[in-house]
Amino acid sequence: MHEITVRPESPEDIRAIDVVHISAFGGEAEARLISALRVSSSYNRELSLVAELNGRIVGHVLLTRVPLRRHGMEINVLALGPMSVVPSQSHRGIGSELINAGVDLAREKGYGAIVVVGHPEYYKRFGFRPARELEVSCNLPAPEDALTVMEIVSGNLAGGGHVEYPEPFIELY
Ligand SMILES: CC(C)(COP(=O)(O)OP(=O)(O)OC[C@H]1O[C@@H](n2cnc3c(N)ncnc32)[C@H](O)[C@@H]1OP(=O)(O)O)[C@@H](O)C(=O)NCCC(=O)NCCS
Repeated sequence: MHEITVRPESPEDIRAIDVVHISAFGGEAEARLISALRVSSSYNRELSLVAELNGRIVGHVLLTRVPLRRHGMEINVLALGPMSVVPSQSHRGIGSELINAGVDLAREKGYGAIVVVGHPEYYKRFGFRPARELEVSCNLPAPEDALTVMEIVSGNLAGGGHVEYPEPFIELY
């Protein structure tokens, strides 16, 4: 039985992380997004998690602090993604481990909610709900169903709000 380790990225992981995303997504857009975020103020290396299998990086998830605005107020939530697992290691629970580690980390860092734009069916199993149910929207031109949210602190998203992803995410769409 091989052990999966999930840990924050370190500077020497950058190329391996790019390779994971390029192989999983079949293109460079997500790796480029992460490179652009790395040099932005939204980036926090502690919120970038890698999954290692036998010393090799096989998965990565990035969490980014993003503002959620409601009625002139602003709170910070975490946006999960991009996330990927190399195709040769998919369907083995590595993606689930990354998400669970991301949720634990968000809780530990005191964030009240996580938002994600992605496959809603995949994220549902971890407790993410359609954003529409909580009147949460975002500035990405993604299908409405693709936006899901998880409250880490109950009531954190009460009253809804609009999530403003930073520019590099907008350029991906
Ligand atoms: C999505 C992804 C991260 C899942 O990683 P993983 O390690 O295979 O995930 P897990 O093993 O924890 O879970 C696998 C489950 O995810 C489900 N799943 C995978 N991709 C899915 C998708 N696009 N939509 C819905 N469910 C999906 C599978 O049905 C699988 O369930 P099963 O094992 O019961 O058949 C991985 O497939 C990947 O990198 N895909 C390409 C990049 C991508 O789409 N990233 C997510 C963007 S939202």
